[in-house]
Amino acid sequence: MIYLDNAATSFPKPSEVYEEVLKCMKNYAANPGRGSYEIAVKAASKIMETREEICNLFNIASLFNLIFTSNATEALNIGIKGILEKGDHVISTVIEHNSVLRPLHSLSEKGVDVTLISSDKAGYVSIKDIKDEIKKNTKMIIISHISNVLGSIQDIKNIGNLSKSNGIIFMVDASQSAGIIPIDVEREHIDLLAFSGHKGLLGPQGTGCLFIREGIKLKNFKEGGTGSNSHFMIQPDFLPDKFESGTLNTPGIAGLGEGVKFIKRIGIDSIQKYEEELTSYLLEEIKRLSYIKIYGSYSGNKRGPVVSFNIEGVDASIVGEELDKEGIAVRTGYHCAALIHDVIGTEYAGTVRVSPGYFNTFDDIEKLIVAIMRIYKVR
Ligand code: ALA
Repeated sequence: MIYLDNAATSFPKPSEVYEEVLKCMKNYAANPGRGSYEIAVKAASKIMETREEICNLFNIASLFNLIFTSNATEALNIGIKGILEKGDHVISTVIEHNSVLRPLHSLSEKGVDVTLISSDKAGYVSIKDIKDEIKKNTKMIIISHISNVLGSIQDIKNIGNLSKSNGIIFMVDASQSAGIIPIDVEREHIDLLAFSGHKGLLGPQGTGCLFIREGIKLKNFKEGGTGSNSHFMIQPDFLPDKFESGTLNTPGIAGLGEGVKFIKRIGIDSIQKYEEELTSYLLEEIKRLSYIKIYGSYSGNKRGPVVSFNIEGVDASIVGEELDKEGIAVRTGYHCAALIHDVIGTEYAGTVRVSPGYFNTFDDIEKLIVAIMRIYKVR
C-alpha cells in the first residue's frame, strides 16, 4: 500500500515507536503518578521524559506548562472554552478545522462575539485583515498554522507579534505543523499551542498536547483524580494536574516520546526539506495535467505537505475509491473543515487530498501520478 494520508494520521511510525508502546504495555504500564512502586514510578518518569522532549522541541521553558490530552481537538476545546466568556470577542479564520469552528460556533450561541477572517484562494490570511478586526474586547486570536486542506502556512510570528502588542491571547492550532516545520513558542509569542501526537510527531493515536503559557488562566475542563491533593474535594489549581484528571495514556505517551526523539535525530529542517521536495514534485507533475484543478499555492515554499485537487469530471470520492483499488490511500471530501470550501469553490464535492510524510518516496508520488492519469482516461 502507498499511504498518502499523513495529514489525518502519520503512517507508518518509526519502529522505535511501536517497540516502546509494546515495551510499556508489557513491562511498565502501571498507573503513572498513583503508586510509589517501581513500575508506577517508571510510568510516571516515562511521561515526564516525553514532556521534556516535547518542551525542548517547541522551546517551552517549564515542563509543567505542557499538558497531555487525548488529541488536538481536546486541547483546542480546553483552550478555547477555558478562556472565552459571554461578552468576549475572538478572531479566527475560515481555514480552521471543525475542532476550532464548532467550539466557536457553540460559544457564539452563548454570547461570545466571533469574527472569522476570510483567506485568499490559496489559503493565506492577511495580517492587516486580522488587525482591522481587533476591538477593545478582543480576548483571543486563534489560527491554524498549516491548513489541513490547502497546506498554506500562516505567518504566525507576525500574528503573534500583533497579538502580544495588543494584549490578546494567541492560540495556534499546530495539528498539521507540529513535527513538520519548526515552532518556537517564544519567537512566535504563542500563548496556547494545541497539537496532536499522532500526525507529524509520529506518535500513536490518542495523544495530543496543549502548551499553556505561564500566567494564562483557563477554566477547568474536567475534574477528577490527579494523584495529587487526593484528600481535597477541590481540583488542584496547579499545572499540569489541573487539566490531567484521569489515567493518562501511558503507552501512547511513551510511544510519542520515541516519535519526538526520532524527529530530533533526523532534524526537523531535514524532515521539512524532504517533505517539501515530495510536495513540489507532486505539484510540478500534476500542474502539467490540464484536467487537474489544484487548490492552494503552486509552489512547495510556504506550503506544508498537503495538496488538494480535483480531476475534471470525476467526483473526489470516486477518485478516492479508484486510488484505493490501486493500493493508494488518500482522503477525499471536506476534511472536517467546513468553511474553506466556499472560498475555493469546492462546497459541493470537496477535494482529493494527498498528504505525503517522511516515509514516502518519490516513487510513491510517481505511482500516484500514473494512477491519476489512468483514472482520467477511463472516466
Ligand atoms: N484533522 C485530520 C484531517 O485533516 C483528521 O484529516
